[in-house]
Amino acid sequence: MQERIIQFLKESDGYISGEEMSQRLKMSRAAIWKHMQELRAQGYEITAVPHLGYQLMACPEKLLSFEIQSGLNTKIIGKKIIVLDTVTSTMDEAFRLGNENCPEGTVVCAEAQSKGRGRLGRAWTSPKSKGLYFSLVLRPSLPLNQLAQLTLMSAVALAEAIESISDLRPLIKWPNDLLLENHKLAGILTELRAESDQVKFVVIGIGLNVNASAHQLTEGASSLRIAAGKSFNRTEIFQAILRSLEQGYAKLLRHEFAQIIEEWKKRSATLKKRVRITDPSGIIEGEAIDLDEDGALLIRRDNGLVIKKTAGDVFLLR
Ligand code: BTN
Repeated sequence: MQERIIQFLKESDGYISGEEMSQRLKMSRAAIWKHMQELRAQGYEITAVPHLGYQLMACPEKLLSFEIQSGLNTKIIGKKIIVLDTVTSTMDEAFRLGNENCPEGTVVCAEAQSKGRGRLGRAWTSPKSKGLYFSLVLRPSLPLNQLAQLTLMSAVALAEAIESISDLRPLIKWPNDLLLENHKLAGILTELRAESDQVKFVVIGIGLNVNASAHQLTEGASSLRIAAGKSFNRTEIFQAILRSLEQGYAKLLRHEFAQIIEEWKKRSATLKKRVRITDPSGIIEGEAIDLDEDGALLIRRDNGLVIKKTAGDVFLLR
């Protein structure tokens, strides 16, 4: 019913009286008033003036799957899009869908996450309707040791999408953090289900801070709005990201990972920097000199030895 009320308000030129609404929607004026209160609580700005009626002044910026899908024109990514309100983590939802054999390219996103998660057991702060928090289910026929390609591809796709809708030029901190002026703008988490070395499906989780202000984020994080000084339409960005992921995924399936590595290197915040990298095997320091053909980071230690890292947490030293 609330959708119909919104539709009415959107279609009416100026005010629409409570009486007219009550007749057309076949409900009492008191019931209409109650719906208006609920809509206001959801973020709709509705003014009510005696003798004139109601007028819709502004809508909350909500993600709607039909809006995201309209004009998307992708073949795989986003063929099915599920938009939820608040979830623990879209990763949990995506795993459930993956186990239920959802089609490849299914995307599940949420307005908020109560337990959004990041790499290495960290939390992902997900203020309501201020960012894009989504997980994508893929079923690639890649061997387990090449799955890092998907993560690097996603980071490049995300950076390219942001470049296409703004003047911002995010850099990528290995393996897949997007930075703006050294502050974290977006993160990517890749998880998978495999059975006896065979990948059943992969879930790529992406968190992008869009319209959040600094106090809504953790220290050291940024958002498109903070960096650009203006708000962004999340649906447009979402579409740009899904299109970009579609292109990147097609490249991977055509075994064109070398091209993705080149794009990654152009945006690197890590290469040619002194870094400290921690992983369960310990801490090493040195200069990040290159990525190898699988996307592993090559670090030259002070004793000249070159070490290859396929995972870990990088601190940029200078
Ligand atoms: C990281 O930077 O460590 C990765 C962050 C990934 C966050 C996204 S938000 C959507 C999806 N759901 C989650 O719980 N995490 C990912």
